[in-house]
Amino acid sequence: MTLRTRFTELVGIEHPIVQGGMQWVGRAELASAVSNAGGLGLLTALTQPTPDDLRREIDRCRTMTDKPFGVNLTILPTVSPPPYAEYRQAIIDSGITVVETAGHRPQEHVEAFKAHGIKVIHKCTAVRHAVSAERMGVDAISIDGFECAGHPGEDDVPGLVLIPAAADRIKIPMIASGGFGDGRGLAAALALGAEGINMGTRFCATVEAPIHPRVKALLVENDERGTNLIFRKLHNTARVGRNSVSDQVVELLDKPGAVFADVAHLVRGAQGRILLETGDLDAGLVWAGQVQGLIHDIPTVAELIARIINDAEAIMSRRLPALLV
Ligand SMILES: Cc1cc2nc3c(=O)[nH]c(=O)nc-3n(C[C@H](O)[C@H](O)[C@H](O)COP(=O)(O)O)c2cc1C
Repeated sequence: MTLRTRFTELVGIEHPIVQGGMQWVGRAELASAVSNAGGLGLLTALTQPTPDDLRREIDRCRTMTDKPFGVNLTILPTVSPPPYAEYRQAIIDSGITVVETAGHRPQEHVEAFKAHGIKVIHKCTAVRHAVSAERMGVDAISIDGFECAGHPGEDDVPGLVLIPAAADRIKIPMIASGGFGDGRGLAAALALGAEGINMGTRFCATVEAPIHPRVKALLVENDERGTNLIFRKLHNTARVGRNSVSDQVVELLDKPGAVFADVAHLVRGAQGRILLETGDLDAGLVWAGQVQGLIHDIPTVAELIARIINDAEAIMSRRLPALLV
């Protein structure tokens, strides 16, 4: 049996499972493994130092899979922004057919991608943002609940409410993100009105994720309490794994009058990269969500996706129907 939804039809994949963009993790090894297993793998544009490196990474991914894969373009409000338009052009020139946009003011990028017939999945964390992205002309929404790794926004609405609230307002296909890691989550997402799931943290704990085994072991070891919310007072909340660095960031920013400069040396992306590559778990931030409480092993991507689909199908075809008397 296969699970066919408007989302699987839209992007031409077998299973309604997407691997969300992940800085330093969303490389060809992981994206191709997800796509080969019937999901949608995404390269992360800004993981590549230059737009030309992104072109090469897309070519490399093509040598590893002949299935559809996409690219995540994360637009963050930074003091010295990367050359977004050039990354965008690299994506367009490379013949990519699906893009995940995330972050602030995606309009200019959405318009350019749409003009080239590229399907855009916009990931956002609030119903009002989903509604305006739909109006902007994106093809699908990925709605990211408070449980998620990364930036959950400032509204603190978990998926159980956010997903059906968004489903009530959105007409285009929508996938659910944040806190998903198993077949129960997929079945629940479908019941809540989504047409698939997006996962980040769970895909980090797979054989193919290009990160140090000690980081994968940490995700298995941690439970659902193993995260910190940082940058709350700066109104740029991020959910990261709990470690000595994120504990320190929370503590420093809790002090009266604290500003970003007080923690800048701790939260640099380069430090997080060192952590992922060397397995030194105190080197920087490690991005991870509450779903760590549902991660108990490190399977291959193919094993993970098959398990999620089989379990979701069993829930929908056996466990739930058996309750109807
Ligand atoms: C290590 C890591 C890095 C991430 N980096 C990005 C990123 O660069 N851009 C982005 O849009 N989302 C990023 N995310 C968020 C994921 O794409 C996804 O939305 C999120 O992980 C979903 O929540 P989950 O971790 O509970 O599955 C990252 C997540 C992780 C775990």
